[in-house]
Amino acid sequence: MGKIVTIANNKGGVAKTTTVLALAQAWSDKGLQILAVDLDSQGNLTSLLSPIESDKHPRTIREALVERKDLPIEVINENLHLVPASLSLSNIENEITQFYRESVLKKLLDGVKDNYDIIILDCPPALGLLTFSALIASQALVMPVMADSLSYAGMTMVAELASRVTEYNPELKLKGVVVTKFKSDKISNFYLKTIREQTGPAFVETVVHEATKIKQATAMKENIYTFDPTGRATQDYLQVADILEDRILG
Ligand SMILES: Nc1ncnc2c1ncn2[C@@H]1O[C@H](COP(=O)(O)OP(=O)(O)OP(=O)(O)O)[C@@H](O)[C@H]1O
Ligand SMILES: [Mg+2]
Repeated sequence: MGKIVTIANNKGGVAKTTTVLALAQAWSDKGLQILAVDLDSQGNLTSLLSPIESDKHPRTIREALVERKDLPIEVINENLHLVPASLSLSNIENEITQFYRESVLKKLLDGVKDNYDIIILDCPPALGLLTFSALIASQALVMPVMADSLSYAGMTMVAELASRVTEYNPELKLKGVVVTKFKSDKISNFYLKTIREQTGPAFVETVVHEATKIKQATAMKENIYTFDPTGRATQDYLQVADILEDRILG
């Protein structure tokens, strides 16, 4: 049975989507069956993974959530599938009105869980219904965090939300805190140390370094493992993927 993992941080731009992509591609390249789910109306994950133009997807996660339809699953390659999102997701808070609306996503994902080793959820930079629904559905939470004051604050807010969610979903465990876009200087090193101390065993010792090639890969919609195979950040992500695979599946 597949494991469901949420990638979340309240703070924008801390590399949630980049991390989802890097993990999903590393794991699927190894032969694991992966479903990546875009829960962000920005549709960044969708536009980076899918060849279909962002407003041309026949169906997205929104219809599954609102109209109780099956999950729309696009085949990216043999081992990597995608549930796309688009701007239509931006009004979801007002569109799902039924009781237990936080459980609609869980029900949909539980229906396909047996087909995958890992289902990975890319959250928006907000602690609204979608992030809450993701946490309700998941066994694992991974938080990307930059070593600065604001994303550290975002991280503690997600951790608080997650601990409240465990009342409803006792299976949820914090499996990783991944420092992203790391560039060594005095302040970053201070926050790196603080994050390591605060997060204990969840801390992932391999930090992902800042690299212009990652930004370029995003801009060009390229896969980092083929675009910059020997780059430092690419190698960091490969190690992070191995560490998290062990923690999530082990
Ligand atoms: N290691 C890295 N080095 C340099 N740039 C990076 C790195 N990781 C991510 N980026 C860049 O940072 C920007 C934001 O990344 P990303 O979209 O993954 O963040 P996000 O947390 O998903 O943002 P949002 O909160 O808007 O969803 C992108 O331009 C991406 O290419
Ligand atoms: Mg994102």
